[in-house]
Amino acid sequence: MIKKVFDVYEGEEVLIYTVKSEYLEADILTFGATVHALRVKDKRGGFTDVALGYTKVSDHYDKGGYLGAIVGRVGNRIDKGRFSLNGKVYQVGINDGNNSLHGGIKGFDKKIWTVEYADERKIILSTFSPDGEEGYPAGLIVRVTYEITAEKGLKISYEGVADGDTVVSLTNHTYFNLNGEGKGDILSHKLFIQADEITPVDGELIPHGDFMKVENTPFDFRTPKLIGRDIEKDDPQLKNCGGYDVNFVLSGKGFRKVAEAEGNESGIKMSVYTDREGVQFYSGNFLNGERGKTSAHKKRGAFCLETQSFPNAVNCPEYPSVALKKGEKYKTTTEYRFSL
Ligand code: GLA
Repeated sequence: MIKKVFDVYEGEEVLIYTVKSEYLEADILTFGATVHALRVKDKRGGFTDVALGYTKVSDHYDKGGYLGAIVGRVGNRIDKGRFSLNGKVYQVGINDGNNSLHGGIKGFDKKIWTVEYADERKIILSTFSPDGEEGYPAGLIVRVTYEITAEKGLKISYEGVADGDTVVSLTNHTYFNLNGEGKGDILSHKLFIQADEITPVDGELIPHGDFMKVENTPFDFRTPKLIGRDIEKDDPQLKNCGGYDVNFVLSGKGFRKVAEAEGNESGIKMSVYTDREGVQFYSGNFLNGERGKTSAHKKRGAFCLETQSFPNAVNCPEYPSVALKKGEKYKTTTEYRFSL
């Protein structure tokens, strides 16, 4: 394992750790437990970095976008940042128009995490979120493990436990370009998502308990197709988001393959495995020329597949619950596997 200083932000050191195998290398920051780079062995025998990132911590504040970060306490959107739990109403940080996005104003993506353990292939980071932070109830300890697996994967295991009843939904927000970060847009990537339905959204990208069949819509990725094939179709949800930015209802249960993407130039394939019920497919619509590691991030220059509970589930009894009882264990796993 390699450990270096990445940056100093407001007097605090942010470290960068590299975990790796012969086929895959991941650079992880203590800031946001962020995946800063993900280098995949390519067909030329070198490595292609498939993850977008910034070169300094202040960019994560100034340019935003949650690049590579762990997102929480509750990922995605909460309508008006309000919900009730055990009969009590909670108001959490508003940071996206009228709503709360990705944990609020200072979510888990902006914390400096503690490294509990690290070796050649694995790093374990943790953070404590006190009772009332960003308005959320109960103190919560979260532990995230990144591990390079024998299947050429980056496995992310999330664990949590709270000292009172609360709500939790964690995800990782890596932006992928399988042709290499900074190498044009992702419209010619092929994508497959094992989902018959999405949770359709209103004009503020909030779902309200509904389900919509993907059949005969631009959201049908059950047979692999190019991301760009239908992205400009005259569909109100695509128009409203500037492309794809919606939660897909994943078929099946347990740890299973739910999605696959392929870079048209590199031939690098990424398969997504998870035990979660949903995945946000976001086509990088809000990327807007921010300078990253090697170039400016173009609109649709990368995509995210954020495995998650359904957005706004805290307000929708129709969706699986994100409540976590006092002392109960939160545990979920996602793995991004690479092949050529
Ligand atoms: C998620 C959201 C998007 C956008 C990005 C960050 O994917 O669904 O709407 O906010 O995060 O820019």
